[in-house]
Amino acid sequence: MSQISRDARKTLDLLRLRADTPGTKNRNHLNNAGAALMPSPVIEAVVGYLSREGEIGGYEAAAESNSLLEGTYDSLATFVNCGRDEIAISENATIAWQRAFYSLSFRPGDRILTASVEFAANYIAFLQVAKRTGVSIEVIPNDASGVLDPDALAKMIDDRVRLIAVTWIPTNGGLINPAAAIGRIARKNGILYLLDACQAAGQIPIDVNALGCDILTATGRKFLRAPRGTGFMYMRKSLVDKIEPAMIDLYGAPWTGPDRYELRPDARRFETWEKNCSVRLGLRAAVDYALDIGLENIEERCNHLSSKLREGLRGIRAVSVHDLGRPLASIISFTVNDWDSSSVMAYLNGKGINVSVSPPSSTPVDAYTRQLPPVVRASPHYYNTEEEIDAFLEAIASIAS
Ligand SMILES: Cc1ncc(COP(=O)(O)O)c(C=O)c1O
Repeated sequence: MSQISRDARKTLDLLRLRADTPGTKNRNHLNNAGAALMPSPVIEAVVGYLSREGEIGGYEAAAESNSLLEGTYDSLATFVNCGRDEIAISENATIAWQRAFYSLSFRPGDRILTASVEFAANYIAFLQVAKRTGVSIEVIPNDASGVLDPDALAKMIDDRVRLIAVTWIPTNGGLINPAAAIGRIARKNGILYLLDACQAAGQIPIDVNALGCDILTATGRKFLRAPRGTGFMYMRKSLVDKIEPAMIDLYGAPWTGPDRYELRPDARRFETWEKNCSVRLGLRAAVDYALDIGLENIEERCNHLSSKLREGLRGIRAVSVHDLGRPLASIISFTVNDWDSSSVMAYLNGKGINVSVSPPSSTPVDAYTRQLPPVVRASPHYYNTEEEIDAFLEAIASIAS
């Protein structure tokens, strides 16, 4: 498996990083919050393994690559700073999140505290559990800049708060919620803390101990640059030890007698037996690739490119930038006067520029509160160039009059 050189890491050797990314030859890819371009080591890991399955058989290929596959847990553990027994791999972030959330028990009167920018899938699950159990869902107020206000959260705490579940960086903009400050409040009050790090993974450093979360979930395909159909969950070992997954199978809870099963001692109790091994190896390669570049380097470069893009958009009169908060992540959402967002996306697409559209239904509370229309979402990554940002801004300026 090829790795980028130490020199490339130090200086963020753009030529090398782009040579490693075949998609950069074809597209100006500013859709990394949707799915990033995979680097060659990721593609090679997936394709190589799939070929091997074809050559010698699926079970046989898994046995042959067992230590590589096991290494995925080690890579993810390094990536978020936890033990390998605290990682479960999943098909996406939603499944990881659901497996954790639906394993918690709630009683009538319990309270779930969440963020205004909570991802829709999470919020819909809150609504279902509220319907089933009588739990209440409460949105933590934001400060004047739109970021979740830790002081307001602290004032909401009482002994009925069962869960704090928030999205760190939302799907519809560059806002970064104060995840570690939330963690300190959760820890101080002994409240479970579930953090959706889907848009953070691969974009900024993650340290679950510094964050103080009990559970963290993320996807592979976004800023982490892994294949589609990958995700993972971190769960603190002390919680793993006492939680029974809502659903179990013979992998997560082996059968030990006629009327008995025993839960695995690690977070893999949330997994099932059958897995797509090829994309797991791709996930491992993507994590190793990001670690090799260094998450601080990635964050810095993302910051640079996204500031340039955001400032450029702010300078175009017919454009409204909808991001809230400060500091801001590498997701910029905007609308163009007299254009609906899907037409803007199609126009850019015709010019070889990839962006996506965030509909209001992806962040229902925020979109409803701010009366947001569908917004165009541009999300540069470290491998993008300044010239690509300029080309994007030129294209927008040419339609925004
Ligand atoms: C903040 C956030 N959370 C969760 C998800 C869901 O991730 P997945 O599609 O991998 O299930 C997304 C996807 O866009 C997201 O942006």
